Amino acid sequence: MKKKIIKSHEHSHQARDRERWKTKLGVVMAMSANAVGLGNFLRFPVQCAANGGGAFMIPYFIAFLLLGIPLMWIEWGIGRFGGKYGHGTTPGMFHYLWNHPVAKYVGAIGVAIPFALVLYYTYIVSWTLAYSIFSIVGSYFGIETYEGMVSFLSAYQGKVSNVYFRDIGTAYIFYGITLGLMVWILSRGISKGIEMLANAAIPLIILFGIILVARVVTLGTPDPSFPERNVLNGFGYLWNPDLKMLTQSKVWLAATGQIFFTLSVGFGAIQTYASYLKEKDDVVLSGLGTSSTNGFAEVILGGSIAIPVTVAFFGLTRTQDIAASGAFDLGFFAMPIIFQKMLFGQIFGAIWFFLLFLAGITSSVAMAQPLMAFLQEEFKIVRKKAALIVGAFIFFLSQPVILFLKHGFLNEMDFWIGTLGLVVFAIIEVILFLWVFGPKNAWKEIIAGADIKLPRFFFPIMRYVTPVYLFILLGFWFFQDGIDVLMMKGVPEANYPYIWFARFLLATILMAMIFLVWVAWQKRHVIQRRIPE
Ligand code: PHE
Repeated sequence: MKKKIIKSHEHSHQARDRERWKTKLGVVMAMSANAVGLGNFLRFPVQCAANGGGAFMIPYFIAFLLLGIPLMWIEWGIGRFGGKYGHGTTPGMFHYLWNHPVAKYVGAIGVAIPFALVLYYTYIVSWTLAYSIFSIVGSYFGIETYEGMVSFLSAYQGKVSNVYFRDIGTAYIFYGITLGLMVWILSRGISKGIEMLANAAIPLIILFGIILVARVVTLGTPDPSFPERNVLNGFGYLWNPDLKMLTQSKVWLAATGQIFFTLSVGFGAIQTYASYLKEKDDVVLSGLGTSSTNGFAEVILGGSIAIPVTVAFFGLTRTQDIAASGAFDLGFFAMPIIFQKMLFGQIFGAIWFFLLFLAGITSSVAMAQPLMAFLQEEFKIVRKKAALIVGAFIFFLSQPVILFLKHGFLNEMDFWIGTLGLVVFAIIEVILFLWVFGPKNAWKEIIAGADIKLPRFFFPIMRYVTPVYLFILLGFWFFQDGIDVLMMKGVPEANYPYIWFARFLLATILMAMIFLVWVAWQKRHVIQRRIPE
């Protein structure tokens, strides 16, 4: 009985003090800004092109329906539920979902994952800011070959020193600006910072996207001496289904991984944003609206820019090589050369990179907010101070990412977070919510306050199909690639120490989060005991 009283006290007091989203539209804007990111414009086209083109869209849509949308609702449901108890992060949320002392430590993963992601994601975001300035002032104009652009980026990243950049200084300046902006937005809080930014960024992203797509479809055949290099062939390359590819499990894995990454599910970031909903706010329609906005930005906008343009200017074979060579190359290597061949290329270049910057920084903020909420709520640190602490942590811990870029440090982090971590965390939360907390309770949590009726068939999907699908996926992945990756197959021996360092850093972040949860809960007991009877 006593425990109950304490709980309800905590409930009303902590929940009342929490920040909230200001408007209903703002919620969908903020969530969409969270989801729409570099994944939509850089990762998607490359994944699609490398995994069967149009055929990729089949496992992609299946994963969207059976994993993406259900997980979106599940995470919104868990988040709004946690918000009622004054907790914006998964340690507190899991604590109330599962009455077991271990629950909160499992929840530590949901703060550690987005924080580890922000360490490298923000650095890439800062390149897009740099490149939008480089476009306006025309810094790379005159470098007309692909190889030239490669050495431009390498020098910018400090991998080499050449005529374009002597050292990594410029990269640090843009990283500092990006991080400074982030800290400023975080310090302004949920409605005045994140929501306001999203309300401006989403319309701009869509506007810039449409401008670029309009430019792309009117490209025709840029060089008449190569008639096969035209936009139509570009779209054809992306969308003509190569159905044979569907027999390969790597295609299914890639499609599912893309759905997770682009929707931001399996990270812990959606739950935090959802915790700022009011108790009776809708989850079902808003979650669907967010997923659709993200899908539009990805398939319609993201799918119509980088790949078709590159085919039109470089031809098919070259585009395939570029797409196979890495997730971000297309955006930073091929596009700048193309802008030089276009009328008003400096402006189109700036629009492209600034679109990436807006999409990226709004996602970066979403990755940092879980740690913000954790410090504010579990350690009672005021918002401005919390923002500065988060910014400082990001800056210091991202140093190895920046300095060891050429040794594969970033890729190793991305593998653990962006490929493995999110699937594992998604399995955990589905089980906790739909099995431990209980299927009926979970369903009730999700449909409470809903603006549309959630079709009943999603119930068995969430309860059975989603977790089983995830387990099968994990199993396949483990035997197909997992063992090789763990054993560092194909990694040059010189990089081993850096790979180990990356793993060590990730393990340390997780352990540190678990420790912080322990400290926070120790303190809570003291506070609880002090409540007068
Ligand atoms: N969804 C974002 C993208 O497409 C990435 C992201 C992951 C953002 C996790 C927030 C949390 O780039």
